[in-house]
Amino acid sequence: MTKTHKDVEVLMNEQRVFSPPKEMADKSNIKAWMDKHHIKSYDELLKKAEDVEWYWGEVAKELEWFKPWEKTLDASKAPFYKWYTGGKMNIVHNAVDRHMKTWHKNKVAFIWEGETGEVKKLTYRDLYIQVNKFANALKSLGVKKGDRVSIYLPMLLELPIAMLACAKIGAVHSVVFSGFSAKALRDRMNDCGSKVLVTADGFYRRGSVVSLKHNADEALKDAPGVESVVVVKSVGNQVPMTTERDIYWHDMVEGESMHCKTEEMDPEDPLFILYTSGTTGSPKGIVHVHGGYAVGTYSTTRNVFDMKEEDIYWCSADAGWITGHSYVVYGPLINGTTSFMYEGAPSYPHPDRWWELIEKHGVTIFYTAPTAIRAHMRLGDEWPKKRDMSCLRLLGSVGEPINPEAWVWYHELIGKKTCPIMDTWWQTETGMHMISPVPMTVLKPGTATKPLPGIVADIFSEEGESLTDKGGLLVIKKPWPSMLRTLYKNPDRYTETYWSKYKGIYLAGDIARKDKEGYYWVQGRADDVLNVSGHRIGTAEVESALVSHAAVAEAAAIGIPHEVKGEAIRTYVVLRKTHTPTAELKDELRKWVGIEIGPIARPDEIWFVEDLPKTRSGKIMRRVIKAKAKGEPVGDLSTLANPEAVEGLDHLK
Ligand code: PRX
Repeated sequence: MTKTHKDVEVLMNEQRVFSPPKEMADKSNIKAWMDKHHIKSYDELLKKAEDVEWYWGEVAKELEWFKPWEKTLDASKAPFYKWYTGGKMNIVHNAVDRHMKTWHKNKVAFIWEGETGEVKKLTYRDLYIQVNKFANALKSLGVKKGDRVSIYLPMLLELPIAMLACAKIGAVHSVVFSGFSAKALRDRMNDCGSKVLVTADGFYRRGSVVSLKHNADEALKDAPGVESVVVVKSVGNQVPMTTERDIYWHDMVEGESMHCKTEEMDPEDPLFILYTSGTTGSPKGIVHVHGGYAVGTYSTTRNVFDMKEEDIYWCSADAGWITGHSYVVYGPLINGTTSFMYEGAPSYPHPDRWWELIEKHGVTIFYTAPTAIRAHMRLGDEWPKKRDMSCLRLLGSVGEPINPEAWVWYHELIGKKTCPIMDTWWQTETGMHMISPVPMTVLKPGTATKPLPGIVADIFSEEGESLTDKGGLLVIKKPWPSMLRTLYKNPDRYTETYWSKYKGIYLAGDIARKDKEGYYWVQGRADDVLNVSGHRIGTAEVESALVSHAAVAEAAAIGIPHEVKGEAIRTYVVLRKTHTPTAELKDELRKWVGIEIGPIARPDEIWFVEDLPKTRSGKIMRRVIKAKAKGEPVGDLSTLANPEAVEGLDHLK
């Protein structure tokens, strides 16, 4: 039986903290790093690493550079910071090429399992050859340094291969999560001006085939910049191929050379653009670069997950999100890790599919999201208990605050009370873990603990004073190498969103509290961004999808607490006079949002209302709607133009 709230309270009182096993701490990578630099304690390291140029300069020396950098940090055009200027490098040289010089070439880079149970293994040498062949194929399509390539693939091995092939020749990849809709794909391809799209015929999801190519074709109807479409034949379903535009991956790489020169890049050259939700209807194109991103993902993978040669590591995130970019692809490969990758759904065809995979492949490090843990908790304790997961030695969590119940369940049922849990706080924008334990940190369930070495964070009041033991805004006070460099084609929005509230300080957009021991308790977003199952969705995106439907005059979206997803989406919809509120229309609207954005953004609840509370200037007062939803006082209503709308929120649902 899953623990009740009361049990957890008792347990936390008895065992409020958990220390990683002493042997693990003593043999950890972070301890070895400290020894090498004659640093006696982790706290001493944290203090010393507040000199971010010193710390990130030392870490960067562990990677291979074609030409050493001259300046570690150039802040002359802040907030457009530059790292490692004057150097030359390529992230792919570090993630793949350099392993060819050591025994790593024969080490397995990826063990992949499909939903149907098919298993494939790729050594670093296999990966090298496949990346080179695909890089040459991209060149033959005319892709050059700086060109953008969109990738719309499920969790197939071709996904990391395509990303690495782009980076190798200096092209910029933009991965679009395969669960996103045709429209979302179209908008992203058009925004970044992609020349090529890489996609697949389809993929398996809970036993049925999702026809991805169909979505891609829909998107391509209105994406004039895309000249070529590469299609991975994965499930082998019949898909239409447009002559002169579409080509199968296997036909393309056939006959291509297994050698391909790695482009010498400036460390500040863009590596990828990844779109994420913000507070407006249009997602932001987060830009990351080769140099600093390589250094940050390398060191955090090494120190937080304590990655060792013999580990089998599994990050369950899809590479369509930042977690997959940093901790399925780049961070682990730069460390020469063996990673496990799974194509399918977590509990298909049986509830313990994940636990079976851990047992079968001998996974030692497992990194997942609280929403997945809660979903498994609901399925019952008997499922993990059936499996021998003694191979696991370390666990990770990401995407949202992990509630203590889920922490304790994860720790006991999956981690057998011995595995420490690395609760990693970070963002698409930060590129790497920012606040997280390392395997020598004393853990408390529900906190991501302390900022990592080289990260200087704080909690600020509205006025910018540092707060302890009080909720405030989470900020980062010094730049870090894997930070976003800008928003694609929108430098003003970059400056405005992240750097305008407090001068020279990065505003994360989260509310958090720092306790007396310096532990950070992240509570959630401070802006109108929802966190549904660990995925970021802008309320404005959902609203603009709804108002694009012929029946809808106005819409407001809010997040309400949800037992499994963390937050669920509730929308309030004002219909046009031409339409009447019916259950069928609700259904249609839910589906509509799914088509417009993707199934993850489908509202859980739709409430039809007569009116929405608005200010005199016509702005929807979401604050009032939220307070009503929570049953809290609605606060100051002096700017409200239509008080009757507040009462109406309770009716007509
Ligand atoms: O609110 C924080 C939450 O997820 C946001 C970042 O979302 P995204 O860019 O999609 O990246 C998710 C994966 C890194 C943050 O602003 N968040 C992420 N990790 C945690 C978290 N909240 C609390 N604890 C975490 N460990």
